[in-house]
Amino acid sequence: MPALIDVILSPPEIDLLPDRDLATSVAVVFDILRATSTMITALAHGAAGIWPVCTIDDAWALKKKLPSALLGGERQGDRIPGFDLGNSPLEYRSFIRHRDIITTTTNGTIALRAVGHASSVIPAAFLNLGTVGNHLKAHTPREILIVCAGTFRQPALEDILAAGMLISLLPSCTLSDSAELVLALYRQESANLLAALSRAKNGRALIAKGRQDEVDWCAQVSLFPLLAQMTPEGLVRAIAT
Ligand code: MLT
Repeated sequence: MPALIDVILSPPEIDLLPDRDLATSVAVVFDILRATSTMITALAHGAAGIWPVCTIDDAWALKKKLPSALLGGERQGDRIPGFDLGNSPLEYRSFIRHRDIITTTTNGTIALRAVGHASSVIPAAFLNLGTVGNHLKAHTPREILIVCAGTFRQPALEDILAAGMLISLLPSCTLSDSAELVLALYRQESANLLAALSRAKNGRALIAKGRQDEVDWCAQVSLFPLLAQMTPEGLVRAIAT
């Protein structure tokens, strides 16, 4: 029986997910600019594991239990005072090998923790999208719930386009109406994803800060043949595919 694909489009819908039965669902979480792009980049460069937490206080509390872990993340897009790293994927290509990273961001880490009760949780990005598609084709669950982390309380265009690309790789699945909407938008924008990401609210904010290079990085498709999964304990690791 083909899997059903549903898409969560924005943070107000994410708020309802802890009460949704996800026992037979695989949750794929996109926060393209930049949380999940940064996680995939860090794992591709040898990070041991990533602990996404919802608040700055949670991060400091976990740091006390994991004193050798690095603290990373952002508020308003900038590094949190006292943290080792911000949330630019370009910061996670060196000096993080074999290190655990504790991270908190505005939307991405909240989206991940909201689906922690799913049968499987897959943080994903354009950077590893082909591997995620292959994994879902090989392990077809009853439901694929694609979660677009959004920005503050709004949908994020970049997350929705990533969801659409993933759906385009899974033609045998049954689509919810939100999945149909997302696929249609992806087909309209797929010819130039970088232009779409540069036009998005998060993309414009990064470019205004002189960070076009981060948008360029996050727009790369299937750069890393890597699959990430979050354990029930909340640890994101690269897994063998
Ligand atoms: C988010 O979690 O909303 C984004 O990752 C924010 C950012 O990286 O600037």
